Amino acid sequence: MFQLPTSDQRRRLRCQLLGWFARRQRPLLWRRDRDPYRIWLSEIMLQQTRVAAVLEHYQRFLKKFPTIERLAAAREASVLAAWSGLGYYRRARMLHAAAKIVVRTLKGEFPRSGQDLQKLPGIGRYTAAAIASIAFDEPVAVVDGNVERVLQRYVGKASDMDEVWRIASSLLNKKRPGDFNQALMELGAMVCLPREPRCLLCPVADLCRSRGELPVSRAAARQIKRTVHFGLARRNGAVFLVQRGRNESLMAGMWELPDFTPNPASGHAILSLRHSITVTDYAVHVFELPGPDNATGRWIPISRVPALPLTGLARKILRRVAVIGSATPAE
Ligand code: ADE
Repeated sequence: MFQLPTSDQRRRLRCQLLGWFARRQRPLLWRRDRDPYRIWLSEIMLQQTRVAAVLEHYQRFLKKFPTIERLAAAREASVLAAWSGLGYYRRARMLHAAAKIVVRTLKGEFPRSGQDLQKLPGIGRYTAAAIASIAFDEPVAVVDGNVERVLQRYVGKASDMDEVWRIASSLLNKKRPGDFNQALMELGAMVCLPREPRCLLCPVADLCRSRGELPVSRAAARQIKRTVHFGLARRNGAVFLVQRGRNESLMAGMWELPDFTPNPASGHAILSLRHSITVTDYAVHVFELPGPDNATGRWIPISRVPALPLTGLARKILRRVAVIGSATPAE
């Protein structure tokens, strides 16, 4: 029969976990201070994106938009350009919209409670709790995918999400909610791994009911494979690009290379690469075109290309063919 941890077990869990976090946490950039803007940005970037990929973009984004005021004053195209490569561009649009609300409607006062934070675009229950606890010490628990797995193993039961949130709240260290929440996330990211939990390194293994043996779902999302072809046309220091429609559900308004349909006379691709977006793995082939066969695009001077909001794939292709430099982000 499933039993919640006793109060003594909960106390030991908090103590052991916080001790481990103090010794072993990664020195991530957003852990250096408690600036809510920086913490908010990190949490939005970390949604659906690995820490390693976020690290590359986080510093660059902050260099361009060091304060919420600068972000609020920016044009959307330049926000999207700085987001390029991170994917899920809706996050960048919402971040921008929320920055404008904070600066213009809330007179620069960043909301401090989870409840008020959730009123901003792009901030749901998880993100609101993460910001409120980390930046403002609000005693609220967070549950992300890592925490869900850690807690299910810890209590030895595949609980539903409501129950996991309840368990997380019952375990929370209310004096140090930000550290406690980050410690649980960190444990999931570094030790209590999905496939091969490193129980020998776990600071709470003695309190864990399953030691990683809880049956884990192996129904990993099946990857879809697709092949796509693009045309690369260059002329007089300019490259031909097309802009996605404003109403596209994905990457609306961003720039990319024109589609291309190869025929037997097209010759060989000048570049082939692989690119993954969510559950789709693309085999991408790029053909040199003498001129565009598509009238809806534009010739863009190569000097202006790095600052355009390009899709991640277009940026990757244009880097590989040296139209843009490899270190150029958005300026
Ligand atoms: N994932 C999302 N936010 C995190 C944080 N602050 N620490 C560790 N992992 C996270």
